[in-house]
Amino acid sequence: MQLATVLFLAASFVKFASGADWCYQSQVACNHTCTGPDTWGVVSQQCNGGAQSPINIVTRKLLLDERLSPIQLTGYQEVFNGHLINNGHSVQLDLPSSLKISGGNLATKYKAVQLHLHWGRDGGSGSEHLIDGEQFPMEMHIVHIKEEHNSLSQAVKDRAGVAVLGFFFQESGSSNKKFDSIINALNFTTQPTNSTTVSGISLNMFIPPSDNMTKYFRYDGSLTTPNCDEAVVWSVFENTIPLSRKQLAAFSQLEFSDGKQMVGTFRPVQPLNGRQVFYSSGHVAPVSAVLLFLAALVSGTLHTTTLM
Ligand SMILES: *[C@@H]1O[C@H](CO)[C@@H](O)[C@H](O)[C@H]1NC(C)=O
Ligand SMILES: *[C@@H]1O[C@H](CO)[C@@H](O)[C@H](O)[C@H]1NC(C)=O
Ligand SMILES: *[C@@H]1O[C@H](CO)[C@@H](O)[C@H](O)[C@H]1NC(C)=O
Ligand SMILES: *[C@@H]1O[C@H](CO)[C@@H](O)[C@H](O)[C@H]1NC(C)=O
Ligand SMILES: [Zn+2]
Repeated sequence: MQLATVLFLAASFVKFASGADWCYQSQVACNHTCTGPDTWGVVSQQCNGGAQSPINIVTRKLLLDERLSPIQLTGYQEVFNGHLINNGHSVQLDLPSSLKISGGNLATKYKAVQLHLHWGRDGGSGSEHLIDGEQFPMEMHIVHIKEEHNSLSQAVKDRAGVAVLGFFFQESGSSNKKFDSIINALNFTTQPTNSTTVSGISLNMFIPPSDNMTKYFRYDGSLTTPNCDEAVVWSVFENTIPLSRKQLAAFSQLEFSDGKQMVGTFRPVQPLNGRQVFYSSGHVAPVSAVLLFLAALVSGTLHTTTLM
């Protein structure tokens, strides 16, 4: 090998190893120099780990975990003005740390840090998690860290340092007014580093109506972008958020740093490697209620019979 080649390879390695540069599969197609999901392991070795996210959630392999009670939200009704930024890979809304979650068999209280989204092209498939192989048009991640940690970078060093709530979107015939403020704000965050303030919002506006945080899937996984730290307790909710096709497509007006449309901002699903996915007790509540009712009826009948 010639010295020049060695130097070139060394330089390439340093470039890769230095990290920051990674991209989604949608960007690889027209730029062979960016590091797509197949080679994120070069950016951070943790991306090759055995407990990565997202995953395909196969419903017939789920196990019920009775400890997965409804997740308690604190401050989600609080109205705040949020900083919305195009971070080059997604659009992110910073959240006040007074917003918290607990319950649902989480080890402790977790405080909110930010939320961001993953989407497809012009309202097409774009969620990260799949349910029985089905991909939804968009997925929202509300990122929380344990109260005791000061930052996300500190929390990712703890196996359960981060708790993410994942919500799927579904296309609906009518628009969802509660998302108007965020979607209008996208006009001002077209290019990476552009940011704006979204006024008068609360997290309650964004989560699915009438869910009560009861029905979700739980597993241990990772951040879905480099450095892919395996520090996340995932709660992926079953109820979806309705948005019109036009609202979903609005996210495709954003741009990556290369000026191309910011679309296909999802990581492909990762192997389970023996991990078990659980579902919450909220799923069976109606069934239990019916069974209890039937049991009461039967015992009542028996009792009556005995009396007679
Ligand atoms: C390709 O991606 C690299 C790294 O993200 C970027 O620096 C470069 O400008 C891109 N080139 C084109 C032609 O988009
Ligand atoms: C944002 O842009 C869309 C068209 O792309 C337009 O319909 C809408 O009124 C704009 N919103 C604001 C707040 O400028
Ligand atoms: C967005 O960022 C670009 C590039 O930094 C800049 O030229 C543009 O003025 C910004 N737009 C807004 C609305 O801030
Ligand atoms: C959610 O909780 C509220 C108040 O506890 C209750 O009135 C409502 O029926 C619940 N909704 C569902 C879908 O369980
Ligand atoms: Zn995410």
